[in-house]
Amino acid sequence: MRNFEFSDTLKRLPEQFFANLVLKVQALKKQGHDVINLGQGNPDLPTPQHVVEELKNSADNPNFHKYSPFRGQRFLKEAIAEFYKREYNVDIDPETEVAVMFGAKTGLVEVSQCLLNPGDYSLLPDPGYPDYMSGIALANAETTLMPLREENDFLPDYQEMDESALDRAKLMFLNYPNNPTAGIANKAFFDETVEVAKKHNICVIHDFAYGAIGFDGEKPQSFLSSEGAKDIGVEIYTMSKTYNMAGWRVAFAVGNPSVIESINLIQDHLYVSLFSGIQQAAAKALTGDQACVDELVATYEGRRHAFISSCHEIGWKVSAPKGSFFVWAPVAKGFTSEEFANLLLEKAHVVVAPGNGFGEYGEGYVRIGLLDSEERLREAVERISKLEIDFK
Ligand SMILES: Cc1ncc(COP(=O)(O)O)c(C=O)c1O
Repeated sequence: MRNFEFSDTLKRLPEQFFANLVLKVQALKKQGHDVINLGQGNPDLPTPQHVVEELKNSADNPNFHKYSPFRGQRFLKEAIAEFYKREYNVDIDPETEVAVMFGAKTGLVEVSQCLLNPGDYSLLPDPGYPDYMSGIALANAETTLMPLREENDFLPDYQEMDESALDRAKLMFLNYPNNPTAGIANKAFFDETVEVAKKHNICVIHDFAYGAIGFDGEKPQSFLSSEGAKDIGVEIYTMSKTYNMAGWRVAFAVGNPSVIESINLIQDHLYVSLFSGIQQAAAKALTGDQACVDELVATYEGRRHAFISSCHEIGWKVSAPKGSFFVWAPVAKGFTSEEFANLLLEKAHVVVAPGNGFGEYGEGYVRIGLLDSEERLREAVERISKLEIDFK
C-alpha cells in the first residue's frame, strides 16, 4: 500500500496530548478493572426528553430531508436571538449576528482560518482548551500565551502584558466559566477586555461553553453583556453542556456581524448546514422549558459538594469551583501533574487529566470532571485516600 504524504498544514497540527491517557485507560478496562473516569469533558447525562421528542417528530418532515439552507434555518436563528434576550438581555439580529455551527469545536477552529493570515498573532489562555491551538496551527499563525494564575482568579492580567504583544495580536481567545481552571469572569473583567481590545484593535472570541453552569446562585456572565462587546467580538455558545447534547454537534456564534459573515462564508464552502431536525430540536431546547437546565446545575452542585467535602476530609485542599463542571485540584507535594495523574490511574484506577496538557501554567494541577454520580465521586476520593498521599 502506498503511503501518501500529509500536507504541511496537517503536519503543523499539535499532538493530541490526551491520546496517551485514553490508551492507558482502555488497557486498564481491558484487564477488567473498574475505572472511574473523571478525565474527560463528556457530559454523562442524557439530553432532556422533550428535545429528543422534537427530533423524532421532525424526522418525519419531508422538507427536512432536503438540503438545509446553507446558513441555517431562520427559526433556529430566531430562537438563538430569543435565548440571548431572555438569558442575558442582549439584542441579536438573527440574520446578521448569528452563525450556526457543527459544535463549538468546529467554530473555534474555523474562526482562526477566517481571520488570521500566516504569521499573524493570536492571544491564547494558558492553561486553555487545546483546540484553539489547532485552529491557529491550521492558519499557520502564531500564538502569544496569556498566563492564568490562581492568585489572579485565573484571569489574564492585561497590565502585565507587553504593549507590543497586544498591538500585534489580531485575535484573543477567552473562556469563562473556564476549562480547565473552573475560574469565572465578572462584568468588570469583560468591560476591561472590551477596552483593551478596542485600544489594540483585537477581535475577541469568547468561548461560553459552560455559560449555563454557575454555582451558589451565580449566573455566569456573557461577554456580550458588556457595552461595546459586539463591536469587537463574538461569543460562541454550544448546546453540548447546557442541554447535554454533545453528540448532536450543534453550537452557534453570536456578535460582531463581520466575524459572523466570515464564519458563514467559510461554512458556505465547507458544509451545507446541519440536519434541520437537529436545528428544530435545538430551537426547542433554547426556547422551551428551562427546568432541565436548573436541574442539571443542581446535579453538578450536589456532585461538587460530595467531591470537595470528601477531598477536605482526607486533607486535600481543593477549592470549590464557582462554575463549569470541572475541579482544578493542586497535586500533592513532590509530584508533577503527570506523575500524580499516573499514580491515581495506576493505583486507584481513577482517571484525571494532568494540568500540563492544557499548557505550561497548568503544571501543578489536575483537572477532575464532575461527570459521575455523587457515590462514584466519593468512591474516587476514598480510593485516593488509600494511597496514603501526604497532601500537606
Ligand atoms: C472550553 C470548551 N470549548 C468548546 C468545547 C467544545 O464544545 P462542542 O461540543 O460544542 O464542540 C468544549 C468541550 O469540551 C470545551 O470544554
